[in-house]
Amino acid sequence: MPEGTPVSEWLDPTVATSWLEQDSLVGFLVLPRRIAATLVAGDRPRTKLVADIGSGPGDFLEVLLDLFPGAHGIWTDVSTVMEDAARARLARFSDRVSYRLTDMTDLAQLPGDLDVVMTSRASHHLDPARLARFYNEAAEHLAPGGWLLNLDHIGPAPVWDARLRAVRKQLIPPSDKAGAHKHNDALPSVADHLDGLAKAGFSDVEMPWRGLYTCLLAARRDG
Ligand SMILES: C[S@@+](CC[C@H](N)C(=O)[O-])C[C@H]1O[C@@H](n2cnc3c(N)ncnc32)[C@H](O)[C@@H]1O
Repeated sequence: MPEGTPVSEWLDPTVATSWLEQDSLVGFLVLPRRIAATLVAGDRPRTKLVADIGSGPGDFLEVLLDLFPGAHGIWTDVSTVMEDAARARLARFSDRVSYRLTDMTDLAQLPGDLDVVMTSRASHHLDPARLARFYNEAAEHLAPGGWLLNLDHIGPAPVWDARLRAVRKQLIPPSDKAGAHKHNDALPSVADHLDGLAKAGFSDVEMPWRGLYTCLLAARRDG
């Protein structure tokens, strides 16, 4: 595991279990997940193979598997607690899902002809250089015309951080912080994401949804 990757906390079953019990954004993220899946359906209706990186309990993957009944999903994460949760949540899809314990800083195990690489609330653990490498690896595993979908928290400038924090406190009641996970440094900014996507060769990029700190970035590989 590369040094500095803040993955170790997620390997702690207590952290993963308490996060699962206290995720306060479940309802908030229904719309962007559906926007992401519907976008892909409009462009790539015969989507057959999708991979969710840092998939956790598999909520985002579930939306795509429902929208594309002929698709196979590859669940990936580092946490066995999350794998158990995902196996329970995605049980109805049976052998349409395969499960791989994989660190998102090394996607070598993934096939190279993916229609979609998706990830949600995981890439903010990467610093800008690792984020750019992640986007590059993702691009290498996408089929021509395939989609990269990233629904993640971003780090705004300090003045906006204070404003958004105040709004979030009123609109989204905080969960019991005992279960919150740590972030080592400032989260990557929107500019960091756009820069990483550009370096990875994505020229067709948009942010089709943003709610406070959380952005959906959608990028289509050329082809
Ligand atoms: C905040 S949870 C989000 C889970 C899910 N994607 C969602 O949005 O509901 C972050 C997930 O990323 C996983 N994760 C963290 N660092 C990772 C890494 N380096 N490689 C793979 N998964 C990682 C954690 O185990 C956890 O399941």
